[in-house]
Amino acid sequence: MARWLNLEGKGALVIGAGGLGGASARSLARQGMATVVVDRDAAALERLVGDSPAEGGELLGVVADISTPEACRDAVAEAVAMVGEPRAFVHAVGRNDRRPVLELGDDDWQSILTLNLSTAWWLGQEVGRRMVAAGEGRMVFVSSVSALLAHAHHAPYAATKGGINQMMRVMAREWAPHGITVNAVGPGYVETDLTRAYLDRDGHREELESLVPARRLGVPAEVADAVTFLLSDRAAFITGQCLYVDGGRTLV
Ligand SMILES: NC(=O)c1ccc[n+]([C@@H]2O[C@H](COP(=O)([O-])OP(=O)(O)OC[C@H]3O[C@@H](n4cnc5c(N)ncnc54)[C@H](O)[C@@H]3O)[C@@H](O)[C@H]2O)c1
Repeated sequence: MARWLNLEGKGALVIGAGGLGGASARSLARQGMATVVVDRDAAALERLVGDSPAEGGELLGVVADISTPEACRDAVAEAVAMVGEPRAFVHAVGRNDRRPVLELGDDDWQSILTLNLSTAWWLGQEVGRRMVAAGEGRMVFVSSVSALLAHAHHAPYAATKGGINQMMRVMAREWAPHGITVNAVGPGYVETDLTRAYLDRDGHREELESLVPARRLGVPAEVADAVTFLLSDRAAFITGQCLYVDGGRTLV
């Protein structure tokens, strides 16, 4: 498997040590990648790096709040100092605020835009600059089924995920001649810290499960598998795509 994916010995940068970023980082380390994970939550990073036997690869943490362009560029520089130029990049931070459009203020809009979309731009641009110089690289942005579907109470979140998909497609087009692929994964509901409180309330879990043709929610490892494939040599001719990992949610 490790040889089939051909990730061994290469450097990876994963932004986000939460449910999906953490699972992706563990998967890449298991494939033998030297993997740096960036998160502002030092305890989450410690758990991830401490608990995960890397099985051949390496998991390293960088504590950073990536809310500004400078912080993003500094985090990339720190990762490069640790593992060299990243061959693989994953953006897996974001948050939702489940309120109707008319209840959201200017700051709510701006803060979701900054975390979900601007950080993807700042980091993608900085890593892309380095990958273009290196003449190779693979990127995956974690989008969502909300990029396609018009869920109520998701307006800023959906706007950022639609934005991620279009930004990703243009990056893919511009950087394809340089040997770089840029893709996204679009998970349906997966139980992580981002969604747990909501799922545990008022029968939301059952309601959401009933909307999924596979009749269940996803697990983080299923998203990590898709991320790992898209970062591997086996996906060398796939670029500009969003791979929905959703048990069929976007079919209905
Ligand atoms: N869980 C799901 O069901 C689901 C579904 C579709 C898409 N997604 C997307 O997947 C991505 C990851 O979600 P998750 O479920 O792993 O969330 P999570 O809440 O488990 O993890 C997010 C991580 O981001 C970190 N973070 C937040 N703000 C930060 C900042 N300013 N600087 C540095 N780190 C910061 C948090 O500390 C946390 O560890 C998000 O983009 C989310 O929109 C998740």
